Amino acid sequence: MKSPKFSLFLVFVTLLNLFARADEGMWLPMLVSKYNYNAMHQMGLKLTADQIYSVNQACLKDAIVALDHGGCTGSIISQKGLLITNHHCGYEAIAEQSSVGSDFLTDGFWAMRPEEELPIPGKTVSFLIRMDDVTALVLANVTPSMDEGERGSAIQKETDKIIEAADTVPGFEVSVESMFEGNEYYIFVYQTYTDVRMVGAPPSSIGKFGGDTDNWMWPRHTGDFCLLRVYSGADGKPAGFSKSNLPYQPKYFLPVSLAGVKEGDFSMILGYPGTTDRYLTSYGIEEKLKQSNPADIKAKWAKMEVMKKYMAADDATRIAYAGDYAYLGNFWKKSLQESKALQRLKVFDDKKRTEEEFQEWVKQNEIRKAMYGSVLDDFKNVYQAASASRANEALIYTEELLTGARILYIAFQTGELASRFDSADFNEMIGISKKRAAKFYKTFNPELEKELLKNMIDLYAKNVAPEYLPDYYHTIEKKFKGDAGSYVESIFDHSIFASEEKLMEYLNNPKKKTLLKDPAFVAANSLIESYMIARLAQMTDEDKFGKARRLYIAGLREMHPETTFYSDANSTMRLTYGKVEPYKPADALFADYYTTLQGVMEKEDSTNEEFIVSPKLKELFNKKDYGRYGNKGIMDVCFLTTHDITGGNSGSPVINANGELIGLAFDGNSEAMSSDIKFDVNLQRTICVDIRYVLFVVDKYAGAAYLVDEMKVVN
Ligand code: ARG
Repeated sequence: MKSPKFSLFLVFVTLLNLFARADEGMWLPMLVSKYNYNAMHQMGLKLTADQIYSVNQACLKDAIVALDHGGCTGSIISQKGLLITNHHCGYEAIAEQSSVGSDFLTDGFWAMRPEEELPIPGKTVSFLIRMDDVTALVLANVTPSMDEGERGSAIQKETDKIIEAADTVPGFEVSVESMFEGNEYYIFVYQTYTDVRMVGAPPSSIGKFGGDTDNWMWPRHTGDFCLLRVYSGADGKPAGFSKSNLPYQPKYFLPVSLAGVKEGDFSMILGYPGTTDRYLTSYGIEEKLKQSNPADIKAKWAKMEVMKKYMAADDATRIAYAGDYAYLGNFWKKSLQESKALQRLKVFDDKKRTEEEFQEWVKQNEIRKAMYGSVLDDFKNVYQAASASRANEALIYTEELLTGARILYIAFQTGELASRFDSADFNEMIGISKKRAAKFYKTFNPELEKELLKNMIDLYAKNVAPEYLPDYYHTIEKKFKGDAGSYVESIFDHSIFASEEKLMEYLNNPKKKTLLKDPAFVAANSLIESYMIARLAQMTDEDKFGKARRLYIAGLREMHPETTFYSDANSTMRLTYGKVEPYKPADALFADYYTTLQGVMEKEDSTNEEFIVSPKLKELFNKKDYGRYGNKGIMDVCFLTTHDITGGNSGSPVINANGELIGLAFDGNSEAMSSDIKFDVNLQRTICVDIRYVLFVVDKYAGAAYLVDEMKVVN
């Protein structure tokens, strides 16, 4: 027997481990009662598991929505379909509704009456109806002897059947998602609403205060929220936009708490995290550090540099490119910080250790050897081949070029016509193309586009392996003496896609030959061709890679039967719980867990558009006019929690022990930016805007108290 001392020590270590792990994990809400509820309850949760997730009663999950099928998260906060999410989640819509004369990005937007709310075309809001484990059904016909192709078909066949059987209510959306890389499968049933309107958004000087400089950083002073409203048909069901639609009546909405937060408070987040890669191997990290991230960083920065210059010079351009720029800036910085954090936190070494332990475990018996014996070698070989082929880089540059150079993008989209000249729906397609063009050129600055395309073509040539270079480099060599600038000028001089007038003229009298010879169309096509070549190179090992990933996770789970694993994020609803907590960003530094309006004033810089403070906000600050939202003369702005979130969680409600809304998650901290790959319990924090600041801005700053009145505010 072990000595009591020793087992006490073990208990202590286990407890430590438990605590260390408490905050990590993106849990499926339906499994919370099984895996997490006890721990949550011990940490202070006052709700029952059924109040969080249930298919039999209204519960928290009914108030949590996916925006745009998982781009961001929102929550319903009134009986009249009022929805709250982040400012950066509504940013593109706010930009699209803006013009130089009425610039909602700069000035904010507030509907003071329902008629003033602005429809947002294309915005969707999805409610989760239910989820279920369908692993046994999906894998019913899978046998060990199947190769990956056979396995894939067997799974597809069963999945199709399950979806068909579930799809009985019109308007419901059904999907089956793989968990743990194909080890488990879950069905998700959603109801999606499409009449969504803008209700309120603060000016960027509040909603995006700190801009790209503060993005991914703590301390933070951003009022990152906006308000939307969901509308339904008279029957309560989803309906396209119509004046006669009614505010959506939710099954459940979140009460809002004015109690505020203090260190150690229990809290949780329900939302739609997009992707994580927590089971990435050391080989994958090497690839990321050497190839993917540098390519991503360089390509995005090249586009941003050009955009920034033209946006600063002209207001219409600033508004037209605002959404794209914000997106690029956000993910450029993320990749940059991710690489830094991966190195600083030595995540490679950490993964190597896990792999060595795994290998030791595998070696211990013959069954394991047969099952998992080649997994790590397979990873190694796949990554070696990928590194030699450099296909990943080529794909990244191609995507950035195709989505960045708008003339290529519209040529690519409209180019669909080329194969349809003789088809019955040709006129319909022309109609669609015209509609698209009418919208497209509203956000098209030809000078910016020329410079961006030229710079990207040069960058691509320097960074992509020769075998993936598009054909147009021959043209540039032969016809333009190697000068990408003249090549681009010539595209803009001769292409039907260079302006709305030219494209409309063409669509009024379309000739197939003109399209086939069009220089933008030709360039877009050769780019797609290189994309396909790179994609094929990447795909050669896809089966081997998929199998290795599936088996690696299966093995790790078998190796640690005492641990409850969570599946990587995949845009399905997850719950994370933890507490309000400060952190130590680095040796000798301490970062407190909340910020106040005082900090906004300290950061003010009227010469830097990222740090402008509006006179109205200053006035409220000087008078300490915070109403019931202040905290003994102090206005709290943001706070930190230990939750485990990632992109897609943006806008997620932060919920206290009583199930009340206390804030919105909107960011993560740069020191832990390796978090998609490894959760670091000491460093990873979720950055939240305090709901009291949100209500203060709505009520005191914007004078839209009627919106607060609509909510259920509790003390
Ligand atoms: N980093 C945040 C996220 O990915 C987005 C913050 C947007 N703010 C900005 N300055 N771009 O969710």
